[in-house]
Amino acid sequence: MAMLFLLATRIHMNTTASYRNLPPLAGLCSMTDAMKPGLSVEECVRRLKRYHYAFKRLHHIFTARITAEPVYELKMAFSLHAHYCAEHATTLRKRVGEMREPPLGLEVVPDANLEIFFDEILAAPNTEELLLGLYERALPALEQALEQHQADTNPLADAPSVRLCRFALLEIGDMVETGAKCIASLVDRNTRERTANWLELLDDCLTAAGELDGTQPSSGKTISRQHSAKPYQFDPVPRRDERFPDPYNMAVNAEVFLYDENFPPAPKTLMMFYKRLREIDVPEMMASIITETPGKPWDYYRDMSRQLWDEARHAMMGEVGFTQLGVDWPKQVMINHTWSLALNTQLKPVERHAVLYFIEQGLMPKNGKRHEWEVAQASHNPLAALFQDYDWADEVRHARIGRDWYLKDFANAADAVRYGDACWSKVLMNWENWRAQGLTQHRNWWPDVYRAACQHWGVEPDPAVLAYNTSYEKVRADLKELTGSA
Ligand SMILES: [Fe+2]
Ligand SMILES: [Fe+2]
Ligand SMILES: [Fe+2]
Repeated sequence: MAMLFLLATRIHMNTTASYRNLPPLAGLCSMTDAMKPGLSVEECVRRLKRYHYAFKRLHHIFTARITAEPVYELKMAFSLHAHYCAEHATTLRKRVGEMREPPLGLEVVPDANLEIFFDEILAAPNTEELLLGLYERALPALEQALEQHQADTNPLADAPSVRLCRFALLEIGDMVETGAKCIASLVDRNTRERTANWLELLDDCLTAAGELDGTQPSSGKTISRQHSAKPYQFDPVPRRDERFPDPYNMAVNAEVFLYDENFPPAPKTLMMFYKRLREIDVPEMMASIITETPGKPWDYYRDMSRQLWDEARHAMMGEVGFTQLGVDWPKQVMINHTWSLALNTQLKPVERHAVLYFIEQGLMPKNGKRHEWEVAQASHNPLAALFQDYDWADEVRHARIGRDWYLKDFANAADAVRYGDACWSKVLMNWENWRAQGLTQHRNWWPDVYRAACQHWGVEPDPAVLAYNTSYEKVRADLKELTGSA
């Protein structure tokens, strides 16, 4: 029977050779592949919904675990991976919408055991288990499912899904690779042995679900929850690793220096790299808004996650800037977490969004992002100019995201700005109190950083720049005087 089919195929192919041997079928696949039975639309949609569910849950887990994760590199990787997952979830939603009329049922949990699988990883009690669950179980299972889809479906009839799988696999591959390197550095054999039972539980979830794509018969095993036995609680307190030794330090007011025309551009690039690196607190804060604001349209999460990733990127641009100038930033630059800490613990999610909107729309006028870019241009540090150029472009987009998702709940723009200002003003920045409690001495770290950069530049420090000593005690970062509450 099979022989007959092959023979028929060969004869058929011989009779319909492409014009002068050009690639047939737009180069998508061979004639033989295009004849395979593939998946029905019904089965295709059923599988796509499961991949979508996986990406959506992964997006949520990556986001929810940014704030309290102390390790800077992991915060950055989670920010990127949350963005990737949000983008692929978006593409899958669109594809399902191309094949089916609403309601699409995209918010339905496709399988109770898959739900437990992701709940367990979300609730992983420490970084090591989180990494193992994400990068050694969830993402590889999704990778396998997408590869299976490519193998099973008809590449001509279902070409749009195949395309989507190919792009998704590219970034899943990147995530798995980064994750494997993190695990190699952070997870030792003891931890692996200790977590073996839990990893087995994750495997059991998948076999009970008939694998991630639901193409296998269920094992029928009843799963009992371990880490997720108690519902997951988001931890809003930002944590930093040991390279952030003075997280309450608010001794160096970057903005006052930056807008002082008496100071030259070159040292101002240091203040801008400091400001960029300090943007690490925006992902920490935005992760809390995204995690604690359920029930929004999907595009809200997608846009907010893109912004979160941009902010993480800005932080890394600061890191690169310091590295380029030979400044040992973890030792010399005190990157505080006071803003994300205060907002996450003192404000409701919508109030945090209001503060973000208020600050970002204030960055757009002439003295904001344009000024930073012009200073960087004048400094003759091309890297600083490049970073400010992109920082500016990104912040313009963030102002638009703010208009799309925050502003529209207000009668007019002025009300939205006023509310943001009011929320920002009620945030308590306990400058003096932190010192009294011994959390920081607000040591002025600026002279050391400036001296290190001067050494790199091969110039003598300018005494006036060296003497800069203005803190955030009286002036907040948007250059508005602090109110009595602080
Ligand atoms: Fe930012
Ligand atoms: Fe930025
Ligand atoms: Fe921004």
